[in-house]
Amino acid sequence: MNRPAPNLAILGLQWGDEGKGKLVDLLSPRYRQVVRFQGGNNAGHTVVVDGQSIALHQVPSGALHPECFLVVGSGVVLNLEVFQQELDRLKQRGFEVTGRLLMSEKAHLILPYHIALDRWREGGASKIGTTGRGIGPAYEMKAARMGVRLADLKHPDTLRDKLRQGYDEVSIRLGQDADLPTLDAMTENLLQQAQPILPCIGDAQDHLYKAWKRGETILFEGAQATLLDLDHGTYPFVTSSNCSLGGLFTGTGLSPKALDKVLGVGKAYTTRVGAGPFPSELFDSVGDRLREVGREFGTTTGRPRRCGWFDAPITAHACRLNGVDGIGLMKLDVLDGFPEVGIVLGYRDGEGRVTTRIPTCISDWDQLKVEVKYFKGWTEPTRGIKELSKLPKEARVYVEALAESIETPIAYLSTGPDRVEGFVYPGTFLEGMLD
Ligand code: IMP
Repeated sequence: MNRPAPNLAILGLQWGDEGKGKLVDLLSPRYRQVVRFQGGNNAGHTVVVDGQSIALHQVPSGALHPECFLVVGSGVVLNLEVFQQELDRLKQRGFEVTGRLLMSEKAHLILPYHIALDRWREGGASKIGTTGRGIGPAYEMKAARMGVRLADLKHPDTLRDKLRQGYDEVSIRLGQDADLPTLDAMTENLLQQAQPILPCIGDAQDHLYKAWKRGETILFEGAQATLLDLDHGTYPFVTSSNCSLGGLFTGTGLSPKALDKVLGVGKAYTTRVGAGPFPSELFDSVGDRLREVGREFGTTTGRPRRCGWFDAPITAHACRLNGVDGIGLMKLDVLDGFPEVGIVLGYRDGEGRVTTRIPTCISDWDQLKVEVKYFKGWTEPTRGIKELSKLPKEARVYVEALAESIETPIAYLSTGPDRVEGFVYPGTFLEGMLD
């Protein structure tokens, strides 16, 4: 374990749920530090081990490897109750994290009034289709300088005062709809929830800096994905953190010099949950088949995911934005048996011009019509294939066209949900890292 490996970021290239968890899990044995740097329990990483799937929301996926030290960076927002439940579930399954978990004292808490505000807004006319976990309000109160941080849990005497401002604002805004516990009850509850994790709260920036200087390997695990990035995604239909590369640095406090490689993760088709632009969405039986075969239902909320063909312009945008060195292409096997498979190579705008430009305004997205190139499907299954030479010819043509369309090499190809289903592409930076 822990043989030399590049310090690596694993980032989503579409609208989330690309299968980042599988890659983090596969690569974790090479890494000493596994770090989450943004997002909260809106994330859901499903890792399949020996046919059993484990869903992780806030705990880094390295939890399944006893030699990994787990770090939750300052850019994360945390729901303590959910975090504790996740630790308990891991423990029941034989994964102990005591002594190998550090949570940044600068990370912000998700509080009951954040959840109330999120759900209240989603009940109104302008819905984002959020996960309803209070993520947006937690980040917005952080920016408004009225957030509550993990460090505050170490000061029980002043905790109630820290909670008050957000509590009052939400109570005034929502009135009777707020249905919140009293401030005293909320404070008491939080202090109780904090008790078991107090020893795990500390200076994550210093920890990571020292680990880097000691030459320890670091794996950065992104949550959500580039098209959900607050600045560079399909705003306002995005999450409230920076899920692209910039968020890694603000969310850990590490210098960009600490990072060596970026592995982008995308599916061989596209999905999204929640509202917002999705030009390649398929509303017909093809979309239904992708959903059924790909089991495209949310890990966090169980919502059916919208499905469509691989969208090259959005994925190429994500590759450029994150400086992706290679792509982990997931779920190729879901396309097995389709008579034909498509790649969206560009969009035709309202005036009939073909473009690969990503619009900024929702009204511009709405006008786009996709330009799809179709490829012959394959009859031999790709499921479980572990070697490039074994791929059906048509599948190989498809995958190569896809890599060309995003001007990024494929580093890993996944052919099924289990750890063993897939392979590293020869000659890429991942070569030798999964042996
Ligand atoms: P929020 O992050 O709960 O505020 O939700 C904002 C948008 O991001 C919604 O469209 C969610 O469905 C989407 N979203 C948030 N987290 C994830 C994720 O982990 N996977 C996919 N979509 C997500």
